[in-house]
Amino acid sequence: MELYLDTANVAEVERLARIYPLAGVTTNPSIVAASKEPLWELLPRLQNAVGENGTLFAQTMSRDAAGMVAEAKRLNNALPGIIVKIPVTAEGLAAIKQLKREGIPTLGTAVYSAAQGLLAALAGAKYVAPYVNRVDAQGGNGIQMVQELQTLLALHAPQSKVLAASFKTPRQALDCLLAGCEAITLPLDVAQQMLGTPAVESAIEKFEQDWKNAFGTLNL
Ligand code: E4P
Repeated sequence: MELYLDTANVAEVERLARIYPLAGVTTNPSIVAASKEPLWELLPRLQNAVGENGTLFAQTMSRDAAGMVAEAKRLNNALPGIIVKIPVTAEGLAAIKQLKREGIPTLGTAVYSAAQGLLAALAGAKYVAPYVNRVDAQGGNGIQMVQELQTLLALHAPQSKVLAASFKTPRQALDCLLAGCEAITLPLDVAQQMLGTPAVESAIEKFEQDWKNAFGTLNL
């Protein structure tokens, strides 16, 4: 499976790339805007932080297919290997089809239903990103949508992968992986929750105390 961080925080990517088995970094316009750094300066720094084998994702801003394709080409020229995120609108689908023909890999984003995700995959998106927590927040069932999408892609568009996104808890991410998703992207707080709970630190402190009481050191 592929584990991504959903962030534009270069320092945190550098720090966590040493620790986590990261496949790369995903961004969206809101995440980039929050960094206040111009995209064309930020992306090379993110690439450097995640390492040359890490995959970067960046999103287009145009609303029409021609504009999306032009922006995708600009991204692809600047950073070969980048995956271009295209919102799955009617124009977005047309752009995904065109980019597939031109050999530029895409991720269909802003996916709120299994049907919408399936269309992106059939249009040629390499990845499809369903928004789990945002669907939950609307009163829907994000995990159920992901389960359906995963099954649909396995049956009808096996060349595309679900990259599940929009998480508020590790449980949501695990449920997507249990549904068979091959990729997830985690915001920093959820990535950290996956590793650190107070119980872990207490367990280690108890080991240290017991060892020190018996042997007087904290070494082997
Ligand atoms: C993924 O494509 C989205 O950019 C992202 O995961 C959305 O997450 P949010 O709902 O926490 O903003």
